[in-house]
Amino acid sequence: MTRDHALALDKADKLAFLRDFFEVPEDLIHLDANSVGPMPKGTRETAKGLLDDWVTLRRRGWAERQWLDMPSLLGDAIAPMIGAGKGEVVMCDSTTLNQFKAVAHALSINANRNTILTQSGNFPTDLHVLEGLKHVFSRDLRVIFCASEDEAIAALNEDTAVAAVSHVDYRSGERWDMARVTKAAHDQGVLTVWDVSHSAGAVSVDVRAADADFVIGCGYKYLCSGPGGPAFIYAKPGLADRAHPAIAGWMGHADVFAFAGKYEPHPGVKRFLTGTPPVGANELAKPLLDIWPKVDPQALWAKHKSLTDYLIARLRTECGPLGVTVTSPEDHARRGGNVSFSSPGAGSVVEALLDQGVVSSFRKPGAIRFGVSPLVIRHVDIYDAVQRLKHVLKAEIWKQPKYAKVAV
Ligand SMILES: Cc1ncc(COP(=O)(O)O)c(C=O)c1O
Repeated sequence: MTRDHALALDKADKLAFLRDFFEVPEDLIHLDANSVGPMPKGTRETAKGLLDDWVTLRRRGWAERQWLDMPSLLGDAIAPMIGAGKGEVVMCDSTTLNQFKAVAHALSINANRNTILTQSGNFPTDLHVLEGLKHVFSRDLRVIFCASEDEAIAALNEDTAVAAVSHVDYRSGERWDMARVTKAAHDQGVLTVWDVSHSAGAVSVDVRAADADFVIGCGYKYLCSGPGGPAFIYAKPGLADRAHPAIAGWMGHADVFAFAGKYEPHPGVKRFLTGTPPVGANELAKPLLDIWPKVDPQALWAKHKSLTDYLIARLRTECGPLGVTVTSPEDHARRGGNVSFSSPGAGSVVEALLDQGVVSSFRKPGAIRFGVSPLVIRHVDIYDAVQRLKHVLKAEIWKQPKYAKVAV
């Protein structure tokens, strides 16, 4: 496993051309796609274009630019990355809001059931939304928490309205089997809401094959919608139409510019649109309209497997003797976008790595996460990042007082 071997692997990579669509500083290895994905080169232009349009077009921008259509255009561009079709996904709002809308919808459809099932280790915002929904519906809802996939399947019953779960655990990177859990849920009449924030754009997500009901997730991670950029929501065809949206906004109206006093929901997923789209954020994401349609999802997922299998092997051989233990599952089919590992001084190691030109992230109590974007990351980046980690550990650089304070 030499550096030349890594370079040879990159030479054979059919998706290598994608890196050219992104601004990637040569001296920085960005392994934090689980927080913010890489920036498309075209973003500078679209951002400037928006500023110019703001000054010159002003209100005409609504008619002369795609400001209103952007949630659907972006949704169509990313849809293949989750196995969805045209018109089945919109990019809008935050994951928190989309989780609220999807779970509320499932609760309205399964109106005679009172249990929401989730994971005990689910991302806090997902849990907060579920707890919050108990205060919104006038029925006696309860949330139950499961630690594992098998436990969740066993807990499904005739009172379960919805299983609202994350596809991938944000700390360990463990991926659940979407098809298996959804099938078990449907066998009991339970609807599913999957948060695919840590899988979409990195590893296999196939909502159609899994027959998933609602799928939501962050756009700003592997999908590269930009810092705080729009999230997305998918609804299985026909399902959105079965209930009134919990947040009924004018952008989700069947005829937005009829300015009708009475709300009539748009058919399909567009009813989950709420208010005026965040034009600034959407313009930063606009280059994705050209990029994602060029990406073969199967090839992308295969590349992620190759990169992260290589990462795990390198971590074990180079850093295992220095106290590093890989905590993400071995099997790629069970892993999400990031590889997690424990290490002595984990938080300080992440800080020290920053000064070595490696951006990663730390999650309490002791997980280091390398979030691997297959759009830009190469095997040679993995090779170099692990060498730098080894250096930080071996020379005990992380013990320097300046690395004691750990950022979020
Ligand atoms: C699994 C998961 N869901 C939701 C969120 C947050 O969503 P938002 O802040 O877009 O509402 C995160 C943030 O990292 C996450 O990891």
